[in-house]
Parts: sequence; structure tokens; C-alpha cells
Amino acid sequence: MKTRITELFKIKYPIILSGMSWISTPELVAAVSNAGGMGILATGVLGVEETREYIKRIKELTKKPYAANVTLYFPGAERNAEILIENKVPVVNYALGKGDWIAKEVHKYGGKVIATVTTAKHALAAQRDGADALIVTGHEAAGHGGAVTSMVLIPSIADIVDIPVIAAGGFADGRGLAAALSLGAEGIAMGTRFMNSVESPVHETQKRMSSESDVYDTVYTDKVDGLKARVLNTKGARRLIKKRLNPFSAVIRSKAIADMLGFPWLKLAVGIMFSGFKRSMQMARMAIGFKAFLVGTMNGDNRMGVLPMGQITGIIHDTPTVEQILKNIIAEAKKVKKKLDVTIK
Ligand SMILES: Cc1cc2nc3c(=O)[nH]c(=O)nc-3n(C[C@H](O)[C@H](O)[C@H](O)COP(=O)(O)O)c2cc1C
Repeated sequence: MKTRITELFKIKYPIILSGMSWISTPELVAAVSNAGGMGILATGVLGVEETREYIKRIKELTKKPYAANVTLYFPGAERNAEILIENKVPVVNYALGKGDWIAKEVHKYGGKVIATVTTAKHALAAQRDGADALIVTGHEAAGHGGAVTSMVLIPSIADIVDIPVIAAGGFADGRGLAAALSLGAEGIAMGTRFMNSVESPVHETQKRMSSESDVYDTVYTDKVDGLKARVLNTKGARRLIKKRLNPFSAVIRSKAIADMLGFPWLKLAVGIMFSGFKRSMQMARMAIGFKAFLVGTMNGDNRMGVLPMGQITGIIHDTPTVEQILKNIIAEAKKVKKKLDVTIK
């Protein structure tokens, strides 16, 4: 397969593993890269030493191109970005922030940069800031998808940028890949599909939940981590949606985030206190959300924990290996093409 995405990253298939905290680990990243796609390491919940170690581990597991992400909204993300640059990670993916300085530094060593966006405004800004490609995430997606569905968002952004677009949110099979290409994208990024794979470290209960869930079983809310996000509609999610918070609790609760990231708590607490009411409330939610995501993802606890999940889970009914997922997607996309060749004459 050949698109600007396969050419840019020197990969066989334009299929990307999304960066998912605790899930997009070196093992899963390498599995996707070794199968001909490209894995993105999630560094959102990693301290700097872990980030260093994980990059080293990926290099042991694959000689193929790989990426790592930084969510610039999270405390400590800049430090992780510096580690990625220091280690000359071939592709750096940033989200939720301004990445012009990242693009500048990554380009110095010949690396490439992907910006993840959910709006046209941010897509144009990322292009101006030097991104080489965009991941455009629609409303269907697990986690922080945009307000507009992929069906509309992908072509609307592909129309206004010159850099190639990777479609995310609602893609899991060959029909999805063919659709994304038709909409003007040149590749797909998938979270929910790869989360439910043999190599995924997510708790087995959650893989089963994903196989059994319907397209109606998710909820889109800003009450879990302070930003609009799609999660599985479980008891744990409903508990957080009902929970009331005050800005002072953000300061107390931020200790958990600071500890997890090896970030100075005092610095984070002072930052929150001076960030205004809205941002403080978001940070309070984020502190709770972090913990709930960890418990949901790794312990498989759907009463206290929360699991990000895309609507596409409704058409996922199995747990194949990563290699099988890629093979199935390519085979199915080719079938779709043949069918369209007959239908559209
Ligand atoms: C279990 C799970 C955990 C995720 N965790 C994160 C995360 O930590 N950070 C992030 O930016 N996106 C996260 N995502 C969202 C993905 O990066 C991606 O945007 C999304 O899964 C794409 O939509 P899809 O699920 O329809 O494939 C997560 C997704 C899933 C399924």
C-alpha cells in the first residue's frame, strides 16, 4: 500500500496504533511496527526515567519506525518531550498544546512530527507550527474525540491542509480503512481495536467487555477527566458523572498525579491555584480521572474505574493478534476496492 503516510514514515501499511496510557507499551508498539504499521508509545503517565527506559525497550524489540506521544496539557509533558528529542525518537506525536518547538527540534535530527487535532482551527495551527502530518480524531473515538463525527471532520480538514491526514475515531477494519482513504485521509489510527488484541496489556475483563459491547454502550462526557471524552458507560463512569467537586480538591488530589509522574507536588499545586477556577476544576477532574482510568484499564474494575472506549467497539467481537488485525484490514480493504470497482463505473 502506498500513501503519503507510508512514504513519510517508511512503513508498509498506513495503520497506526494510537497512544493509549498504560496500553501502548513498548511491547504493543513494537508488535504494530513489526507487523508493518506504526506504534505510538503513550508517555502521558510516565515519568522521565520510565520514558527513557521504554524507548530503550522499543529499540530492543523492533528495528522498524515507531513513534511516541506527549499530551502537552498534562503536567510534566514538556520534560517527556525533551527525552524523546534527546533520544531522537523517529516520530513524535503531540496533542492538546502548541508543538512548534517540538517540530523545530525533531526536524533538526531528521525526525517527523504528527499533531493530533479535533478541529480545523487546530489543524491549521499545527500545520503552521511545522507538523508533518495530522491525526484527526472524530466524535466516535475513545477518549478525547472532537465534537464532529469522523465522516464529516476528516474531509473537512483534508480539504484545507496540505500535509497528510490520518483518520482516527471509528476505524477497526478494512471497510474503515477504505472509507478513510475515500474521505481524503491517507491512513488510520486505532485505539479501541488494538486495545482488544492479544498483545494488549489491558485487563482481560475489558477485552471481553469490548467484544460484547454495543455501539450504544459508550458515553461522551467532561465529568471524568475534565475534558470531553468517550468512555464505556459503566457504573464507574456514572459514579464520576454524578460526583461534585470544588477547586480546592484539585490541589489535594493533584498529589496523586504528581506522585505518578515524579513531578514536584508543590509546583503543580501552586500552578493549579493560580490557574483560575475553570482550569482548577478541570485539574480536580483530571486527578480523579487519572486514577479511574488506571483502575479501569489495568484492574478491569468497572465499578470504581473507567475505561475509554470508542463507538466502534460495537462491531468488534474478537481478540486477534496485532498481526492478524493488520492482515485482515488489508485483505478486507482490497475486497472493498474490488467491489467498488464493479459498483462505481
Ligand atoms: C482504552 C483506551 C485508552 C486510551 N487512552 C488514551 C490516552 O491515555 N491518551 C490519549 O490521548 N488517548 C487515549 N485514547 C484514545 C486513543 O488515543 C485514540 O484517539 C482513539 O482510541 C481513536 O478512536 P477509536 O477508539 O475509535 O479507534 C485511549 C483509547 C482507548 C481505547
